[in-house]
Amino acid sequence: MKLRVGVIISLQWLVSTTIVTGGEGFALSTSSPVVTSRQTTSHEIESVYAAKTISSFDKYKKIHAESIKDPEKYWGDLAKTELDWITPFDDDKILQGDLIKGDVRWFAGGKLNACYNALDRHNPDDLAVIFEGDEPDDIRKITYGEMVDKVSSISNALKAKGVKKGDVVTIYMPMIPELAMTMLACARIGAVHSVVFAGFSAEALASRVLAASCEVVVTADHGLRGGRKLDLKSIVNSAMDIVESTNKDLVKNVLVWERDYKDDSTEEVPYEMKEKDVRMDFLVADQRPFCAPEPMDAEDTLFILYTSGSTGQPKGVVHTTGGYSLYAAQTTKNTFDLAPGDVFACVADCGWITGHTYVVYGSLLNGCTTFMFESTPVYPDEGRYWDMIERHKITQFYTAPTAIRLLMKYGNKALAKYDLSSLKVLGSVGEPINPEAWRWYYEEVGKSEVTVVDTYWQTETGGHIVTNLPGITPMKPGSCTYPCYGIDTVVLDPTNGNIVEPDENGCVEGVLAIRQPWPGIARTCLGDHSRYLTVYLKPYKGYYFTGDSVRRDAEGNHFITGRVDDVINVSGHRIGTAEVESALVLHPAVAQAAVVGKPHDIKGQGICAFCMLKNGYEESPELIQELRLKVRTEVGAFCTPDMIVIAPTLPMTRSGKIMRRILRKIVCGETDTLGDTSTLADPAIVDTIIEKVESL
Ligand code: WT7
Repeated sequence: MKLRVGVIISLQWLVSTTIVTGGEGFALSTSSPVVTSRQTTSHEIESVYAAKTISSFDKYKKIHAESIKDPEKYWGDLAKTELDWITPFDDDKILQGDLIKGDVRWFAGGKLNACYNALDRHNPDDLAVIFEGDEPDDIRKITYGEMVDKVSSISNALKAKGVKKGDVVTIYMPMIPELAMTMLACARIGAVHSVVFAGFSAEALASRVLAASCEVVVTADHGLRGGRKLDLKSIVNSAMDIVESTNKDLVKNVLVWERDYKDDSTEEVPYEMKEKDVRMDFLVADQRPFCAPEPMDAEDTLFILYTSGSTGQPKGVVHTTGGYSLYAAQTTKNTFDLAPGDVFACVADCGWITGHTYVVYGSLLNGCTTFMFESTPVYPDEGRYWDMIERHKITQFYTAPTAIRLLMKYGNKALAKYDLSSLKVLGSVGEPINPEAWRWYYEEVGKSEVTVVDTYWQTETGGHIVTNLPGITPMKPGSCTYPCYGIDTVVLDPTNGNIVEPDENGCVEGVLAIRQPWPGIARTCLGDHSRYLTVYLKPYKGYYFTGDSVRRDAEGNHFITGRVDDVINVSGHRIGTAEVESALVLHPAVAQAAVVGKPHDIKGQGICAFCMLKNGYEESPELIQELRLKVRTEVGAFCTPDMIVIAPTLPMTRSGKIMRRILRKIVCGETDTLGDTSTLADPAIVDTIIEKVESL
């Protein structure tokens, strides 16, 4: 395989143009009406939230400025209109703490329940969930009333198995309605959910169960994807063996949903039942469909979600009941211009933050219909998304650039077959969207009539932090444009931490940080507050550090140019190089490993692993296969390296630190800008590695 010369995608973005769509038709620089989006903001429904009452970019600027100047007023007012409180928060205690001390609290003392806000307060007859399984005819529609009953029964089932307020429940499930219901049932009783993406391996699941000292695991016997059965139960069995070998009595119960359970399902168990297993469908069927929502402090943990960093084990990012719920609700409403009756489809998996905020919490807190999707964009064929949009009259569709690029490759034939006129907003998330994919999404999917929102955010931010708003702010292909309300972005110089002054064109370039706390900011990492401080707050005193580099143009548009740490973004999934490296060195042949990202047409980035072998081991196709397998079993199949390079040694400084920067440049084909290699213990190794990579 010949190495493709790396493309610096970010440069292409800078020549892009500004496009505005919006029902209320306003433009930045023209006085004539601009392209108007088909339905955005045209619904005639009185709205209580700020964005609906503004009709121009200037007003966005005004509200944004106000939200930054007086965040307590901005968020305090919204918290009252957007959420139902059991005990109101004190107006003098809306925001406490700061980014210097790392003790941020929003609405502390106020009491509410996130599940109540997401379900009970809405019209019981409205549709809460439309689920479409792997097969297009596997459809379930669930009303808010049915959700309250089922989630209450699940809450009682969890209680019956000993789950109490504050306990962590690990959820390892396919994208079926019971996944969202189990999350909400935890929220209802004040338990903390920790969803682990069902693509993670047994090892990865076990380490997350152990790290959170979790006594109850909820899973399903299998999932379905692209016509294949995913045997989740066996993975859980292996994970439980690993957990038991470390802490024998930790997990008390494994609650197992049956993917194909029907009310008339028989006593025959469709999987190998272990001692701790409980048939969840049967347990739930025995419970009363009533469970009073637990009053939770706004600052009580709603959930944790493990995410990868540049070093060490994944961090359990902690989100709170009050602040996160408000931020999820508010960003969903604003970014997607939600209106009653909307069918909102975020096709992300609940194993990631996008699924938490936009499949479950944000959409349900707003009372719209959320769409849950179990399958892939190309099953049974590449028209799947468009077919779903037509059949369910989806109004907002939210996916990742990797899926857009994949579907774009198939061309427009499938697209032409379907009526997509229900669409109002198309969203993109997870990584920078290249202008070519952006234009295809806008022009071919949206027929140049639907707003495309490029939403930039992170697991730690809880919801969008930089995005254009339909009908409110202009779009710019390749740019996530402007900060959300309440988000005070700054561009810092990584060498000294100062705010970067604009150059002669009014542009700034540096690392992206945020100057002020917002309600959705993660409060800590489970059991390791000092790590939270070290990663997010200490790098630049007084700021939240995103870990991303950015360029901001003279108009204020943000262009994210990539991570500055050793985090790789594969298909919109954040992968820590450290985890893949630790997996590789567990193989007896590997002495040292270094993992870097490599540009990939569809996935954005692919994984490239450099391995140095121990004495006595030789490179062979079998060994490469074994190394791939090692990563699959230790972390998960979605982290399998695209390329493994066996190198005689790795580029290291004299003090033994691997210089990944050099490896990154080599795999990107940027060998003419390698920079200073004189600090390497053995500078000659660079040429050897370049030759090796070029020969692959
Ligand atoms: C990282 C966060 C947030 C949901 C999915 C990923 C990258 C995310 C964008 C975007 C450019 C983006 C950043 C960020 N990223 N969205 N619209 N434009 N980059 O969540 O796993 O926490 O990863 O994804 O690098 O830091 P995550």
